[in-house]
Amino acid sequence: VKNLIDTYSLTADDITQILDTAASFEAINNRPGIKKVPALRGRTIVNLFLEPSTRTKSSFELAEKRLSADSLSMGGSTSSVVKGESLADTIQTIDAMNVDMFVCRARLAGTPQKITENTDAVVINAGDGKHQHPTQAMLDLYTIRKHFGHLDGLKVAIVGDLAHSRVCGSLAPALKTMGAEVTLVGPPTFQVDDPDWFGCPQTSSLDEVIEDMDVVYMLRVQLERMEGAAIPSKREYNRLYGLDMRRVNHMKENAIICHPGPMNRGMEINADVADCARSRILNQVNAGVLTRMAEMYLLLGGESNGISA
Ligand code: CP
Repeated sequence: VKNLIDTYSLTADDITQILDTAASFEAINNRPGIKKVPALRGRTIVNLFLEPSTRTKSSFELAEKRLSADSLSMGGSTSSVVKGESLADTIQTIDAMNVDMFVCRARLAGTPQKITENTDAVVINAGDGKHQHPTQAMLDLYTIRKHFGHLDGLKVAIVGDLAHSRVCGSLAPALKTMGAEVTLVGPPTFQVDDPDWFGCPQTSSLDEVIEDMDVVYMLRVQLERMEGAAIPSKREYNRLYGLDMRRVNHMKENAIICHPGPMNRGMEINADVADCARSRILNQVNAGVLTRMAEMYLLLGGESNGISA
């Protein structure tokens, strides 16, 4: 794998290598003292965030610092993109400064792929439109594997705004590759068009499936991506599809709750559920730094072994 653009191009071995390498970085990332290794000293990484981000941008920046890479961050509003410069010209301009990697978040699906056509540097997709968010999927898999010790055979419900979600589009195929069973749950208007999408059954009833699930993964309702579609009322959506304590009390004893953030508290997930003992939401955030360390390290030529914490 030269670039990380989507999850459906990754084999089970690729994913396992990322997760195992991330586990090697956990001791560095979570130690109280100096959180830094010289693994990418002298390498240059450009973070091009053309769409807002809290978790992804900050965790990439921290991961780069912890690997001792040199990095710079650019946003759409602070670059010459606002003067009408094309994406190709922007990338070729930065590429001429001899950088090793682009990390790109973009509103427009296909932007990271487009970048690969204008540079020989490595490209990581940090979320593009409704298309893919592969580094989110890796941190999700890491969090789930850490809790259960494995991924194969787990039953995972991905719940909510399926059609507009790059998180679902990345996580579902990655879970399937690793042998998990994925059930998609959402209102008919939010379901994916293909009834056999990655072999995942779809249902509109969370109550019918929740007690059988090991992981209940709640998606954010993508209010900014509705593009004229009817926006559900917060109260009605919460009643039919929101994760509240009444539903949580039907979950298996060892089952966990995930959410990629940012959350619409009181809509797809209630505040007391987001903060309850089953919630792994902040564990996901923590895993974001170390899985991104692993992805950058491996894509820039590191080996999966020999990392010294
Ligand atoms: N989960 C996620 O991608 O969050 P941000 O948009 O804050 O990066």
